[in-house]
Amino acid sequence: MKVIVQSPEQIAKLAAEQYRALLGEKPNAVLGLATGSTPLGLYRELARLNKAGALSFARATSFNLDEYDGLPAGHAQSYRTFMDENLFSHIDIPIERTYIPGRADVSDADGQGYDAAIARAGGIDLQLLGIGNNGHIGFNEPCTPFGSRTHLAELTPSTREANTRFFSSIGEVPTQAITMGIRTVMNARAILLIALGAAKAEALRATVSGPVTELVPASVLQLHPNVTIYADSDAAKLL
Ligand code: GLP
Repeated sequence: MKVIVQSPEQIAKLAAEQYRALLGEKPNAVLGLATGSTPLGLYRELARLNKAGALSFARATSFNLDEYDGLPAGHAQSYRTFMDENLFSHIDIPIERTYIPGRADVSDADGQGYDAAIARAGGIDLQLLGIGNNGHIGFNEPCTPFGSRTHLAELTPSTREANTRFFSSIGEVPTQAITMGIRTVMNARAILLIALGAAKAEALRATVSGPVTELVPASVLQLHPNVTIYADSDAAKLL
């Protein structure tokens, strides 16, 4: 794993450069995207570069990592709304090629609809990840099997509490989500993880230098051949 420690502003620029290089070389690249506060700086930078004509998503396809289960369509906190507002409406990606997992993707005969769609698109070239305070990636909470594919997951109390800030009360935070599995993420050709802030320091330490264990989902990334981690100095303080 390559670990790069920089300011959040620099991280947004360096990560965006990785997208510029990828889309320059492969305009029809398949992008794995993430939600949360962490990717916002990168998304702003991608929108800026797109507007300036420095990169185009016109032939790209995207697959988001996860989505809450049970929120009505158009809910302000759904990840579809988040992606529309923070990225898709600011770039030239065709909206019909932006995929977000849903119940239908995990209820087909073999339960692997989303993974099959990713495979049909050619597989993910670059998967973006944030990290939960407990080391989760997507909504793969501790103890999720490393062999998992896209599935319906239960959220832990700590994750629901961490995400309460976006809802008016904890009772409104969904208890389940549909998430790419660990195997789905590991199948990406390259992975880019961003960690910002002191709340992520312990999870990042365990990810980078702890044992590879299902107790820390992100630790599986030690086994992937092409991972770049961008961390600010607060998130990197225990490395
Ligand atoms: C959520 C998402 C994750 C995200 C994590 C961290 O639980 N499902 O994909 O990485 O939170 O969020 P933030 O970037 O806001 O700290």
